[in-house]
Amino acid sequence: MLKATLLAFTLLAATALSATAAQPAADPLAPAGHWTGATAGRAATPPMGWNSWNAFRTDVDEAKVMGTAKVLVDSGLRDLGYIYVNIDDGWWLKRRTSDGRMQVRTAIFPSAKVGGSETSSFRPFTDKLHSMGLKAGIYTDIGGNACSQAYDLHSPNLPEGTIAERQIGLHGHVQQDIKLYFADWGFDYIKVDACGINVYGADRPFVKQHKYNAYPPLIDQASINRTNIPAVRALYQQVADALAASNPDGDYVYSICAWGAANVRAWGKDVGNLWRTSGDITPQWSRMLHTFDSASTRALYAGPGHWNDPDMLFVGHGDFDVHHLTEARTHFSLWAMIDAPLIIGYDLRNAPQALMDIWSNKDIVRLNQDSGGHQAVMAYDSDDVQIFVKTLSDSGTKAVLLLNRGSGPAEITLTPAQLKMVGDVALTDLWSKKTMMLTGGERTFTLQPRESRVFKAKGKRQLADGMYLSEIPGAINIARDGVIVPVPDPIVHRMSNPWGATTNSGERPSYGGWGGARADATPYDQALTVDGKVFASGIGILANSRMEVKAAGFRHFEAKVGVDDSTRNLKDKVVFQVFGDGHLLAQTTAAYGQAAQTLSADLANVKTVELVARSEAPTSDLPLVVTWGDAALRE
Ligand code: GLA
Repeated sequence: MLKATLLAFTLLAATALSATAAQPAADPLAPAGHWTGATAGRAATPPMGWNSWNAFRTDVDEAKVMGTAKVLVDSGLRDLGYIYVNIDDGWWLKRRTSDGRMQVRTAIFPSAKVGGSETSSFRPFTDKLHSMGLKAGIYTDIGGNACSQAYDLHSPNLPEGTIAERQIGLHGHVQQDIKLYFADWGFDYIKVDACGINVYGADRPFVKQHKYNAYPPLIDQASINRTNIPAVRALYQQVADALAASNPDGDYVYSICAWGAANVRAWGKDVGNLWRTSGDITPQWSRMLHTFDSASTRALYAGPGHWNDPDMLFVGHGDFDVHHLTEARTHFSLWAMIDAPLIIGYDLRNAPQALMDIWSNKDIVRLNQDSGGHQAVMAYDSDDVQIFVKTLSDSGTKAVLLLNRGSGPAEITLTPAQLKMVGDVALTDLWSKKTMMLTGGERTFTLQPRESRVFKAKGKRQLADGMYLSEIPGAINIARDGVIVPVPDPIVHRMSNPWGATTNSGERPSYGGWGGARADATPYDQALTVDGKVFASGIGILANSRMEVKAAGFRHFEAKVGVDDSTRNLKDKVVFQVFGDGHLLAQTTAAYGQAAQTLSADLANVKTVELVARSEAPTSDLPLVVTWGDAALRE
C-alpha cells in the first residue's frame, strides 16, 4: 500500500515537473518530524491589558494613559494579568525627513520632549510604565499612512507636514521603525494596522484632497480574489523578522490588524502572536456577535503563542455599558472562553465599580489564561443558542458557556456528553459562585435575552485515559489545511451596516477561512459523518492537509478515519497517514461511501504526531472532506 502511494505521488510530482520544467517541488505534505508551530514573541497565554482606541480614538494623551496605568496598578488589575498599556492611532507628529526618524506629538505626550538630536523619544514614557510593573505597546501601519489619516480627518492629532513627513507608516522603514520602537524606545508590543495598503488608492478623493502618496491597494476588503494575499503576508513577515532582530530576548508581542482580510485567518498564526479575524468591533450587541463569530469557529488555529483576535473589548460602552451588565458580562465571558486577547477599551480613571468587577473576575480571567491554550469548541450551535466547552489544564475540569444570542428567553439543556464527560458533573457558576450538580443526564437553564452562564465543570472524562484531539486544540498545529482557494466564510453573523444605513445590499461574507479545519465539525460546518456514522468527537479537515499534535506523555494514538459524507468530491481516494517524530507509524486508504477505518499507532517516546490526509491520485479540485473520527491520544 505504501509503495502504491509513493508511486502515485511520484507520478504526480513527475507530471508537475514536466509541466514546469523546474526543480521538483518539495512534498508539501512531508512530515516535518517536529512541531513547527510559530513560537516567536511572548504570548504563551492571550495578551491582557488596555488600549486607548475604544476609550479615546485619536484623542489620546499622556495624562489619560498614565491615569489608566495607575488604575491598573492600584485596582489589582495588573496583578491579574492586565499588563500591556497600548497606545493606538494618534500619537505621531511626523517622520523627520532628514533621517526618517519618527517624531512623537509631544504636545500630547510631554514626557517625550527630549533634548539633543532626537528631539522626541518615548523612552521616558516606557520607562515609567516599566517602573510600574507594566509593559508598553505602540501602534503603526504596514503601509505609508495610517487609518486616522483616512477616517478621522477632523482629528487634531493627525500627522503634520509635507507628504513625506506625513508618511508615518512602516512602508520603506520597517527595520528603522521597529528598531526605534523596540530597541531604542523600549516598547514591548506592537499593533500593525493595514489601512496604508487598503484605502490609499489614487482614485480616493481624500487621497487627492489631503495630498497623500497614493498606494495601489493590496487589500480589497470585499474581495479575496482582488487581494494580493502573498504580498500582504510578505509585508507582515518582514515586520516579524525585524521584531525578532530588534528583540534578542524575544520579549515582544506582534498584533496583526488586517481585519480578517487577505486570508489572515489562515496564516496569522505563522507570522504574528494575534491577528484580527474581522473588521472593527463597535459597542453594539449585533456587531459583537459578528466579530465573535469570526473567531469562534477557529479553535484549531489558536494556541500558546498565537491567538485569534476578534478585536478589543468594548465593555463599558453602548450595549455593554454599566446599564447593560448582562451584555457586558456576556461579551467579556465570550472573549475569555475563546482565548481572545483581553484588552480593555475604557477610560479606567472613571470606571464604575460594576465594570471593574467584570474585568477583575478572577475565575473568568483564569479560563482565558489557562496554560493549555485550548480555545473553547462549539458543543451546540444555532443562531439563537450556543454552547462552548473549553478544556482546562487542571485535570478533569472544563469551562462551559451557555449563550442566549436571541431577543427572547431561551431554555438551554446541558448534558455530560457535551462536556465529553460521563455521569454526574459538578458545576460552579463563575459569576454567582453558586455550585450545583448536573445529574440524571441533563440540566436545563433558562437564560434571559443576551444572557450567558459560565460554569467550571468537574466530572469523569469520557476518555478516562486520554484526550480527544478536539478537546485539545491548543496542542494542534494546522500545518496545512488543504484549502486551495480561499473562500469567504458565510457563517459569521452579519449585522446591519454599522457604518451607514440600509442603502446598499449589506455586509457580505468576506473573511477567508471557509473550509478550514474544525474541531467536532466538518470544514463546511456539518456533523462529522462517515458512511452514515456520526462522530461527536473528531477533526474535520480537507484532504491534502497535515496536522501536528503535541503528544508527549501519551502512548497511543487512534482514530476512525474516512471520507466524510458531506464531501463534494465523491471520487478521489484518500491516504491517511500517522507519523511519530517523522516516522510513518500507520496508514490506510479510504474512499467515499466506505465505513470508517480504525487507524492506530503506538507512540514510544514520540513528541509530535503528524496526521496527513493525502488525496491519492487527484482527478478533481472539488473539496475532498475527511474525518478523523474520535481521534484521540491515550495514555
Ligand atoms: C483600524 C483598527 C482599529 C484602530 C483604528 C485606528 O480601524 O482596526 O482597531 O486601530 O484603525 O485608526
